[in-house]
Amino acid sequence: MTTRKRFIGGMLAAGAVPTIVPHSVFGKNAPSNRVTVGGIGVGGIGNAQLPQMKKAGFEVVALCDLDWQYAERVFKKFPQARKYKDYEEMLRLEGDKVDAVYCGCPDHWHTLVCLAAIAKKKHLCCVKPLTRFVDECRLVVSAARAAGIATQVTANSNCDEASMRLYEYLNAGAIGDVVEAHAWSRRPVWPQGMVSYADWEDPIPEGFNWKKWIGPAKYVPFAAKWGKHAPYEKMSKEAWCGDAVYHPFNFRGWFEYGAGALGDMGCHRANTLYKALDLKWPTHVEASCSRVSEVAFPLASMVTFDYPARGTKPECRVIWYDGGLLPPKPKAMGATPLPQEGVLYVGTKGTILFSSQKPAEATVTILEPARAAQFANLPRTLPRRNPDMFREIFVEWLEACKGGAPASCNFDFAQYITEFTHLGNLAIRTAKPIDFDPVAMKITNDNAAANKLLHASYENGYTLG
Ligand SMILES: NC(=O)c1ccc[n+]([C@@H]2O[C@H](COP(=O)([O-])OP(=O)(O)OC[C@H]3O[C@@H](n4cnc5c(N)ncnc54)[C@H](O)[C@@H]3O)[C@@H](O)[C@H]2O)c1
Repeated sequence: MTTRKRFIGGMLAAGAVPTIVPHSVFGKNAPSNRVTVGGIGVGGIGNAQLPQMKKAGFEVVALCDLDWQYAERVFKKFPQARKYKDYEEMLRLEGDKVDAVYCGCPDHWHTLVCLAAIAKKKHLCCVKPLTRFVDECRLVVSAARAAGIATQVTANSNCDEASMRLYEYLNAGAIGDVVEAHAWSRRPVWPQGMVSYADWEDPIPEGFNWKKWIGPAKYVPFAAKWGKHAPYEKMSKEAWCGDAVYHPFNFRGWFEYGAGALGDMGCHRANTLYKALDLKWPTHVEASCSRVSEVAFPLASMVTFDYPARGTKPECRVIWYDGGLLPPKPKAMGATPLPQEGVLYVGTKGTILFSSQKPAEATVTILEPARAAQFANLPRTLPRRNPDMFREIFVEWLEACKGGAPASCNFDFAQYITEFTHLGNLAIRTAKPIDFDPVAMKITNDNAAANKLLHASYENGYTLG
């Protein structure tokens, strides 16, 4: 069990120095060129991201997962890696053999896994969303900063060709001042809108530690697949990624284990959006959504975030849509439909569509033909990262591990896009507006439920302190 006391104790005991020796000590073939990584929670997206890490230049030496059957596919890709079921054991036994840790667990495990890795002074990459609650986010970000480790969150790149072109257009005034942005996702592609936990129990698969999977969250009996229990018979199950109730993948729809469509895709959309508009915290958030139960995110939601002026940038509003909801389509798009994933930047002089239908091939279009023609030859002045976005996220992290520049979605930056999703989810869950004071970390209007939900409630003997 990881507690705050154990975490701080670990930090002190670690007194550890980073295990990567600087290039200057050994020259070109220094041990510093070899950065070893241990993956925790690798059976899902880890199956795709660990090979990307290898391509980027990491050496994958240890893998940990609770479900070895599910993780078999990634174990096969790294037969030389030492295998574990318990991440604390992995961190203890791999102490001097692992330079960096990748966390690919479900959302409700991110904080404890991150804090355990930080306590060992391991460089750290966590899948998005970094945490599930605002207080967890503050704790992880400040602990990582204090430990001086290199961090990265796996949100879609904010320094690829499309993002850089967007910043160039905005800097050149191509659409004037941005006063509104609309961001949307076709998610959820997993069940949402459930009104209660599964009311049946299935045998726990051989060798799978369900209690450990639940970890610090609310305990519910194991239920395998929705099958005939499907919560919404008419909802197209083809749209879902599998039929699991909780594990794997479908934890996303439950308040206790996931962060809904906004937590899942909001970080991706917000990564470039926050950088482009220099956003930090919204001061006011309101949600409008389909029915919200006590346990699960709604089928569809629309969330409005208001931001104060920043430097020369005026106040602006960001509106999030999911579950099939879309913003009104700009007239300038004619008969062309909106892409399934994207952001519209609405300025005082024009509109830009950032299409992320295929994130690795995102496109940026000024919608008004006259303005598009005027800025068509705007020079490309900002440096772009390699177009292989998914590998590049890890190349950036590798460079940072070796003492280079911080990765583009390092925890200090990721804090804002993570809290964006938390605050939106607070407005969804409480069905009430929220006014947020980020310094005091308080909801200042009459919304006691939201104030409570800024803080994680750990169960089953786990605690943050
Ligand atoms: N582009 C991206 O960055 C991206 C894409 C997909 C998912 N994600 C994120 O990755 C996370 C996992 O999503 P997924 O779809 O891979 O889920 P998943 O359920 O398919 O996989 C999660 C894995 O973690 C394992 N696990 C759970 N608790 C663990 C623990 N305490 N110790 C060790 N292993 C544990 C599970 O057994 C499973 O193999 C989510 O937070 C999700 O938002 C990020």
